[in-house]
Amino acid sequence: MRIILLGAPGSGKGTQSQFINKLLNIPQISTGDILRQEIKNNTKLGMKAKDVISQGLLVSDDIIIDIIKQRLQQPDCANGFLLDGFPRNLAQAKSLQNHNITIDHVIEIAVSDDFIIDRISGRLFHPASGRTYHIAANPPKVPFQDDITNEPLITREDDKKETVIRRLELYHQQTKPLIQFYNQPEQSCKYSKISGIGTITEVAERIAAVIN
Ligand code: AP5
Repeated sequence: MRIILLGAPGSGKGTQSQFINKLLNIPQISTGDILRQEIKNNTKLGMKAKDVISQGLLVSDDIIIDIIKQRLQQPDCANGFLLDGFPRNLAQAKSLQNHNITIDHVIEIAVSDDFIIDRISGRLFHPASGRTYHIAANPPKVPFQDDITNEPLITREDDKKETVIRRLELYHQQTKPLIQFYNQPEQSCKYSKISGIGTITEVAERIAAVIN
């Protein structure tokens, strides 16, 4: 199955991707994680993306589309994939169509802006794996340590309040139009909107219900 997870920053896309990955055995492709890995490895691409991300802006479409094009050609995508953080605007969505990449299901995780700041301000992040925790809603077993590797958890640089506000503005301006785009009759994908409010398990159950 080919799935797009749509939702505001901090709505729980990364958290829910881990459940969908286990449920359907398809790879999670997070453009944010790919970019953070490039930054960590000090690559040319990472150096270009670093300032853009820390300011809460969007990396240019040509870079992102190229990343996705290459990633979707990998053998593990043959039976499907889960896109987390892509597409983020109409140009990116149309690039999938232009490359004849069809999508089976678009799942929107709806969370109002009031919840977002609280979620993101409590987020703890394991850079090597992309695993995400929340200080209250999903704490690690040992405080500030990743459950699997025991490595330290960090706060993402783009999670400062003023940056999150900018990311949310961009979500409303650029990403929200995708809701209408994927709901057009000529789109062949199924569209589901689920509430992202409730416990992580409750949200995962809602997603499992629409997938089945
Ligand atoms: P990216 O990493 O994609 O960030 P994002 O889309 O803003 O989403 P987040 O990772 O912040 O949130 P999430 O929805 O995954 O929530 P999470 O599960 O962590 O992108 C980062 C940057 O890269 C962008 O700003 C941009 O610069 C660049 N970029 C990436 N893709 C791009 C593209 N396509 N084009 C251009 N630029 C691009 O959850 C958040 C917190 O809430 C966690 O602490 C979690 O534990 C907690 N939580 C989750 N669910 C619940 C719940 N039900 N109840 C309580 N807490 C919960």
